[in-house]
Amino acid sequence: SLPVPNVQSLAASKEFTEVPGRYVRPEISSSPVLDSAAKYGGDIPIIDLSRLDYLQHSQDEILKLGLACEEWGFFQLINHGVPDKVIETMKVVIEEFFRLPLEEKKVYEQLPGSVEGYGHASVVSEEQKLDWGDMYFLSTRPVSGRNLKLWPTNPPIFKDALDQYSEEMQRVANILLESIGKSLKLNKLIDNFKDGLQAVRINYYPPCPQASKVMGLSPHSDAVGLSVLLQVNDVQGLQIKKNSAWLPIKPLPNAFIINLGDIIEIMSNGKYKSIEHRAVVNPERERLSIVTFHSLRTDAQVGPLQAETQEKSEPFYYKTISFPDYLRMTFAIKLDGKNRLNYMK
Ligand code: SIN
Ligand code: FE2
Repeated sequence: SLPVPNVQSLAASKEFTEVPGRYVRPEISSSPVLDSAAKYGGDIPIIDLSRLDYLQHSQDEILKLGLACEEWGFFQLINHGVPDKVIETMKVVIEEFFRLPLEEKKVYEQLPGSVEGYGHASVVSEEQKLDWGDMYFLSTRPVSGRNLKLWPTNPPIFKDALDQYSEEMQRVANILLESIGKSLKLNKLIDNFKDGLQAVRINYYPPCPQASKVMGLSPHSDAVGLSVLLQVNDVQGLQIKKNSAWLPIKPLPNAFIINLGDIIEIMSNGKYKSIEHRAVVNPERERLSIVTFHSLRTDAQVGPLQAETQEKSEPFYYKTISFPDYLRMTFAIKLDGKNRLNYMK
């Protein structure tokens, strides 16, 4: 990944008057933004996790989850049981970290060729347009795979906060992945995710006086199985693609936003879709979000799962490759919308 400027300090610099050309995105205005979900005729579904966990086992909720996955690929998750304290502490340490002086944050800078650490999404060419945001990426599970040298020591409770947050996210993801498997009648789906990789990406979007010209995070689908997004402050910015337009998402208080990644689209043989999304920037206020990615065990395969019932067999629309090969492919290509899936056809 090529080195690019730190956007937080660029946005804060006194000389800043005009957005540098590399950040200007004329294509933004080419697809419409839906100004309200009501006009479109609906908002993303709401799923109640307490009704999916193994004590409750609600068939209705599994049905509802299946529909949410088929029709939207995005939903809000309520009654998730993640303690307020865990969420609040995580938000506080993230905000404190990003307030540190640049030199202190740079201690954790990404090394060449790696996404882990403080920096940016992969930049593959000098001509490539740049996103108006910085990020901090950390591998969190399995615990043995943590690179603790890249975990901040300031604020001092950062490590503890992230450790607890990561554990809660895994619990939530396991219930969801198990339920998604049930909704597809693919009970073995969850086995591929047991002791799977988990990583956290903290997104920091500085305000931009010419917000409508820049993009916080370019349109993409997620490579993983399942993503769990927490908006850290009350600044909105997430938009999802729906019928060729962009639908802004307004998180409910205390809810997580869940989306399916390409691996679920592939494993479900296209029945469930990973949905393109992007993040826009606010003209006056910074925006922070934290996304937790849940992926496969390293010895798993990426490909459509064989139906467990004999009812019907349909052709597979994606090929099967090893998860390590899938990861190599993911890091080698320049991500553009959902193009990663073209390599799996
Ligand atoms: C993401 O897609 O990783 C984050 C989107 C957001 O910041 O809301
Ligand atoms: Fe994403």
